Amino acid sequence: MEKGSQSLKSLKFYIHTFGCQMNENDSERLSGILQAEGAQTSDSLDESDLVIINTCAVREKSEEKFFSYLGRLDSLKKRKNITIGAVGCVAQLYQSQLLEKKPIIDFVLGPDNYHLIPEIIQCHHGDKFISTKWNQKWHEIPQNLTYRENRISAYVTIMEGCNNFCSYCVVPYTRGREKCRPKQNIIQEVKDLAKKGYKEIQLLGQNVNSYKDPETGKEFPSLLKEVNRIEGIEWIRFISSHPKNFTQNIAIAMKEAEKACHQLHLPIQSGSSSVLKRMNRGYTKEEYLEKIVFIRKLMPDMCLSTDIIVGFPGETEGEFQETLSVLKDVGYANIFSFRYSPRSHTKASREKNAIPFKEKRRRLIELQAFQRNIQLDHNRSLINSVIKVLCLGKSKKDSLIYAGRNEGNQVINFKSKKDVIGQFVDIRITSCGPYSLIGEIAP
Ligand code: 5AD
Ligand code: SF4
Repeated sequence: MEKGSQSLKSLKFYIHTFGCQMNENDSERLSGILQAEGAQTSDSLDESDLVIINTCAVREKSEEKFFSYLGRLDSLKKRKNITIGAVGCVAQLYQSQLLEKKPIIDFVLGPDNYHLIPEIIQCHHGDKFISTKWNQKWHEIPQNLTYRENRISAYVTIMEGCNNFCSYCVVPYTRGREKCRPKQNIIQEVKDLAKKGYKEIQLLGQNVNSYKDPETGKEFPSLLKEVNRIEGIEWIRFISSHPKNFTQNIAIAMKEAEKACHQLHLPIQSGSSSVLKRMNRGYTKEEYLEKIVFIRKLMPDMCLSTDIIVGFPGETEGEFQETLSVLKDVGYANIFSFRYSPRSHTKASREKNAIPFKEKRRRLIELQAFQRNIQLDHNRSLINSVIKVLCLGKSKKDSLIYAGRNEGNQVINFKSKKDVIGQFVDIRITSCGPYSLIGEIAP
């Protein structure tokens, strides 16, 4: 890029996001900050002056996707004077190495530095720029600086970072230590979203259940209670929960908050207590299952999902089979499953007893096939029932097909002659697959 200063007015930018909901929400903030300075989003890479890649480092594959995307930008950069920024977790992890190894990148920003983006474009245009500092305290980006494409369901970040140091996980090194957002800022943002007509709020953080208001010391149940009181919002979800921090008080607060969806993503990672110990998860299989029993006694209709890692170093066939047996016992409506991949900085990456790639792949295929049947049985049991669905969009291929989610966060596709986007509708389930439900508007 040419040196000097560049105005943000009329600059066109394109953001490509990899990874989790936190990254999606961060991209919405980046987009809002740039638009507030007069820049415009663009759907086309070719027409953009600035390309920002929001990266994910959680698994090897996520990182590879970023490097291959970067490779695709090579020819564009040769043709055009564009600025390329790498932000997010890979940026935080590799810092200046990224600038040295990938000269195509002009700036690198860690997740706690997004407020700097206008300054980089306006004042450091043409210089290589890097900032990966961490603030100990919450840095509030005014919430009107979040640009949300979705007008129905909104992510609201309540905390960032993680203190857990699970032995396989890079996140504490990319997102830093836990810090919580002041409750009054969260409540203000949700109230504003309610005024704009949002129906669903998803409270976000790496470990939402360890939330503690930095000003009053009030914990997650109190936050949930307050969000529940905000008029206009009808469904509240939160992600991610750590089983260690998911207390009985939180389950009780969920039951008492009538807008809290009876849906919980509670990552178990493995069904073997010995693997869980090596993963440094802070709970045993038995303790996890006791929590599930408590939750289900309180809310029998609770829809559960989880994350599983197969092929953690030293995982025996017996330990893997224990994971399958937990899947059967709990009956999750959905799982996210991954082959273990060693990540830099982590304790597990230094273990010697790696499981061969082929074996990890075999276990993942077996686990997914096993879970597929559980989901199919669960979804079949819903056929003919009428379910409340929040309609979130329309099929791109067929203008009569709409898509939404039920309280359990399952995807439902249904036919409707009327446009019902943004509305709650009663859907009769007519058929299903393992990963989605199909229905029609109930008369
Ligand atoms: N290898 C495989 N999966 C991982 N996850 C986190 N780190 C790794 C890793 N090194 C998975 C966990 C986590 C989800 C977001 O990603 O299951 O819950
Ligand atoms: Fe990673 Fe564990 Fe923290 Fe989740 S709780 S972000 S898996 S270290």
